[in-house]
Amino acid sequence: PRNVTRGADGALTVAGLGVRDIAAEFGTPVYVLDEDDLRSRCRDFQAAFPDEDIYYAGKAFLCRAVVRMIAEEGMFLDVCSGGELAVALAGGMPPERIGFHGNNKSVAELTRALDVGVGRIIVDSFHEIDRLTALARERGVRPRVLIRVTVGVEAHTHEFIATAHEDQKFGFSLAGGAALSAALRVLDEGVLELRGLHSHIGSQIFDTSGFEVSARRVLALQAQIRDARGVELPELDLGGGFGIAYTSQDDPAAPHDLAKRLRKIVDSECAAERLATPHLSIEPGRAIVGPAVFTLYEVGTVKDVDGIRTYVSVDGGMSDNIRTALYDASYSATLASRGSVAGPMLARVVGKHCESGDIVVKDEFLPADVQPGDLVAVPGTGAYCRSMASNYNHVPRPGVVAVRNGRARLIVRPETEEDLLALDVG
Ligand code: LLP
Repeated sequence: PRNVTRGADGALTVAGLGVRDIAAEFGTPVYVLDEDDLRSRCRDFQAAFPDEDIYYAGKAFLCRAVVRMIAEEGMFLDVCSGGELAVALAGGMPPERIGFHGNNKSVAELTRALDVGVGRIIVDSFHEIDRLTALARERGVRPRVLIRVTVGVEAHTHEFIATAHEDQKFGFSLAGGAALSAALRVLDEGVLELRGLHSHIGSQIFDTSGFEVSARRVLALQAQIRDARGVELPELDLGGGFGIAYTSQDDPAAPHDLAKRLRKIVDSECAAERLATPHLSIEPGRAIVGPAVFTLYEVGTVKDVDGIRTYVSVDGGMSDNIRTALYDASYSATLASRGSVAGPMLARVVGKHCESGDIVVKDEFLPADVQPGDLVAVPGTGAYCRSMASNYNHVPRPGVVAVRNGRARLIVRPETEEDLLALDVG
């Protein structure tokens, strides 16, 4: 996070508060959110996209306090389940600033979205169009919808592939004509208000040319819709997926550069298709919250294995960060509770779970004198760590502490053994 430095004693401080104090007060493991960092990333995106709507993708991490921060910063919010919608509303996000995603929204979820009046629903299948149309008719309301288009662009971290067909569960296929049919069905039925098209091409993307191909394809569809029905859709959402630096090897684009490139391609494509430029929106999740958080762990054991590698076991693991095991993701780690003049030692930071794949950081140089009782920080854990956390091995999920101006407050309390037992009814 932006407000992390080392104090005179060599220990990390965040927004002026030492990590040893945080650990003493809240225990470990704990997710530590640098609140000003998160807010500054919202502001960076808003400065870069002043005329666009920025929907924070709540799936990256959501709790009431973060909803409040996002709302205070004037952002919009993307939710993709009834649970996320409930948190968004509980956190005070105005419903008209909420966008509702998902490839299998239930009748109950759609009903709630209509009843609270979310700003837009991103429809993902013909069944959903029919379901939502029926619900809207019953209620005499006219919800605003976007059509999620599968544009045949698959973005990976450092590359993208553009194909004619994309075999995946989300959205309406562009190549197969489903996207055009969906738009025409919504327009012809006239019950839902079709505001525009939506495309999301992947996550942790560095190569922005994927966005360019996707914008081009989706605007070509926009022109087809105009040609077929004489309607120019006023909005376009290009999704999220902007990459962040997990290690020093990653070099993400600044929001400002992203904005410039996206706008340029949209403008030139609209000119080519003789379309008025639609109102743009984007949905960054990881880029807002990912870098603003680090996980603070305590070291329990240090084990040299046959001189090959040193395993540093911490008091959490794959239950609070599944991304290394699931995606082979790269993280870094640093000795947080003190400085050290010891030489570097190649370490693997592992968790406490009953699984050898329970790795938090695959390879990291830690000081050779790292020992039980030391605190280790793993940065960049704001996105898809707490939100994907589990209770594997009946390990309670850690809490989240927000730090600002030298003060820490708990915004998600850590789970207890009582919480784990609370659901057992037999
Ligand atoms: N919009 C839509 C429609 C999405 O599906 C997603 C992410 C986003 C926005 C936000 O993407 P972001 O800016 O955060 O990359 N669990 C995976 C990531 C899954 C992303 C799913 N959709 C991970 O840990 O890397």
